[in-house]
Amino acid sequence: MSQCQFDYRNRVVFVAGGTSGINLGIATGFAKAGATLAVMSRSQQKVDTAVDVLKGQGSHAIGFAADVRDVDSLKEVFEQVFQELGPIDVLVSGAAGNFPAAANEMSANAFKVVIDIDLLGTFNVLRYSYKYLRKPGASIINISAPQAFVPMEMQSHVCAAKAGVDMITRTTAMEWGPEGIRVNSLVPGPIEGTEGMKRLTPPGSTGRQIVINSVPMKRQGTVEDMANAAMFVASDAASYINGAVIPVDGGWGLGGAGQLGQGLADMVKSEK
Ligand code: HXC
Ligand code: NAP
Repeated sequence: MSQCQFDYRNRVVFVAGGTSGINLGIATGFAKAGATLAVMSRSQQKVDTAVDVLKGQGSHAIGFAADVRDVDSLKEVFEQVFQELGPIDVLVSGAAGNFPAAANEMSANAFKVVIDIDLLGTFNVLRYSYKYLRKPGASIINISAPQAFVPMEMQSHVCAAKAGVDMITRTTAMEWGPEGIRVNSLVPGPIEGTEGMKRLTPPGSTGRQIVINSVPMKRQGTVEDMANAAMFVASDAASYINGAVIPVDGGWGLGGAGQLGQGLADMVKSEK
């Protein structure tokens, strides 16, 4: 899939969790379209590598090592982004954690850690960037997952967290719409080569075959598919799209996605 034509020159794009996989793919799409980028995640090494990748696209890019669970660090990061780059035009919130685990076996802390990163982390990123968003005009994109609306075995934590993320999308869309801020969720399907798919469908797992068979388009998505969707949603062409939860999944969420749960259950059982 090639990149569509968008013009994001003179726009500031912030991507939380933007140092690998889908989120770095989205950041790279915006960088190729001329945007100025700021990315953050926990690992300084991943931040440095991602900033190099984005600069390689000719973008002005800066990075921060911070955890979306740490409100004080987030406040500092957003203040610094504003001082260096000015108001944020596009905010992508995509930090997340995932592992397959049975609800009757994972610890309370294992469930909590995913809620803390995905759900509370999304709230924190929106809440503490709010002051620095361009008003009117900012576009927020929360990265959800099919698990938000398709129950999946071994994913009780992720299903609960991402359903909450989509409700943050809808409520902030209502609260912030009057100020000219749009908030939407993008729901990736199975995106090839990503950490998420490595964790849920490692080579040789039955899940891997289930995924290909259960996507109506009969292929996994690419990070470029996600970047194109993000650039569309953030653009003026989507200026009346607000509070929407938009699958970018080849039709996987129409019914097929739930089948992966059986593959995950088999995998967890075989690891015992
Ligand atoms: C059961 C597990 C576990 C596992 C960790 N835990 N892995 N429990 N099965 N496989 C438990 C630990 O024992 C601990 O509980 C608790 O979770 C917290 O673990 P920590 O390692 O201390 O947490 P932390 O260092 O904060 O790391 C968070 C993490 C980690 C989520 C556990 O995997 C991570 O950093 N992931 C980020 C990258 C990632 O997951 N990317 C994929 C996103 S894909 P106790 O009780 O022992 O303290 C995605 C959707 C994909 O989100 C959808 C595809 C369709
Ligand atoms: P990934 O490469 O692991 O991306 C997760 C990013 O979040 C990384 O940059 C990671 O970097 C960062 N991160 C994790 N915990 C963080 C924290 N506490 N604070 C700050 N940053 C944190 O995974 P991915 O598979 O591309 O997934 C990206 C997004 O797409 C996630 O929201 C995921 O739920 C969603 N999604 C993925 C798929 C898929 O097919 N892969 C499908 C549906 C939805 P650090 O380790 O440096 O912190």
